[in-house]
Amino acid sequence: MAFIPFELERWQSRWEHRVKFNLSESGVDPLSTAELLALDNRDAGQMLDIGLGYAQGNGSDELRDGIARLYEGATRENVMVTTGSAEANFLVCWALLKPGDEVAILMPTYMQTWGLAQNLGATIKEIPLLPENGWEPDPVDVRRAIGPKTKLVIITNPNNPTGHVLSAVALTLLTDCAREHGAWVLADEVYQGAELNGQTTPTMWGSYEKILVSGSLSKAYGLPGLRIGWVTGDRQFVEGLWARNDYVAICPTTSGDYLAQIAINRRDEILVRTRGILNTNYAIVEDWLRNNNLLGWTPAEAGAICLTSYEGGPEPAELAEALRRDYEMLIVPGHQFGLGRYIRIGIGNPTAELQKALQVLEVGLKSLLK
Ligand SMILES: Cc1ncc(COP(=O)(O)O)c(C=O)c1O
Repeated sequence: MAFIPFELERWQSRWEHRVKFNLSESGVDPLSTAELLALDNRDAGQMLDIGLGYAQGNGSDELRDGIARLYEGATRENVMVTTGSAEANFLVCWALLKPGDEVAILMPTYMQTWGLAQNLGATIKEIPLLPENGWEPDPVDVRRAIGPKTKLVIITNPNNPTGHVLSAVALTLLTDCAREHGAWVLADEVYQGAELNGQTTPTMWGSYEKILVSGSLSKAYGLPGLRIGWVTGDRQFVEGLWARNDYVAICPTTSGDYLAQIAINRRDEILVRTRGILNTNYAIVEDWLRNNNLLGWTPAEAGAICLTSYEGGPEPAELAEALRRDYEMLIVPGHQFGLGRYIRIGIGNPTAELQKALQVLEVGLKSLLK
């Protein structure tokens, strides 16, 4: 089978540092190293003493203890530190999937596991999430997608690109169906902590013995450049992921592990910062949407993202390319999430930058959607 590229990451990797206006991000304006150190009253000079040897392969004990504290009843043995949640999701799929397996996945989604599962020979069973249902799954679709051949059920909660937080009823149904068929559940909770209303989305950890939670410092913590993520799961399973990591990243970076310990310890302050940015900027984006009436949208509950829809005009790929080429503007087109005429706008930039970018986007859309 031909390799399925991860279109969204190809698009962002290629262009995000080459455009003037980047509205493709889904996290908040990142912290600097100095800001992070200051949160913990650390002297920046201490960073200079960090040895640049190999770090502990599955993450330092201190970091894994800190992450484990986020999951009731978990200990460091339940935690494997990875290179972002991208590697966490990769290791889980690699460990579980073989040709012929089925994977049930809520759509739209961040398409990493959608493409990866197919590249590993598995078949995807999509569970549609529709705006008219408030982005909640229909129980009939859930039961149809999860069956005896299902090896893995993948849930991204809060969701990217909709920003929706799934109801407890939907999550229970998904785990009940997984349990009935003995399937594993991968809960990608990378947006946990980036809720606009300040109410942290409950983790799925502890709801089922075959739950694997992936998380990272990239979104709610505003630290994507540290490339620190993790899997929290069954001890033996997590030990097996570590063995696979020997073939991939070997270990986290020593400076990344050090700074990640600070971020986890200072989680509360960091999340206050994140939610401040989100609430200020989301209000600006909603005003902009209301005033120019170019795009439809359903309000997001989490993530530095606003999913918008449009009618007529070019296909999303063409629209995004024209915005990039003619306006030096990067947005994420709907087809990169398995959607049609939608674009995802990142709202996490510094406010003044966001306002300028929205002005440019408005000019571009007025011209391209006429
Ligand atoms: C749902 C989801 N999972 C995982 C990732 C990967 O992020 P990272 O590897 O930086 O943790 C992203 C990035 O956008 C995402 O949106």
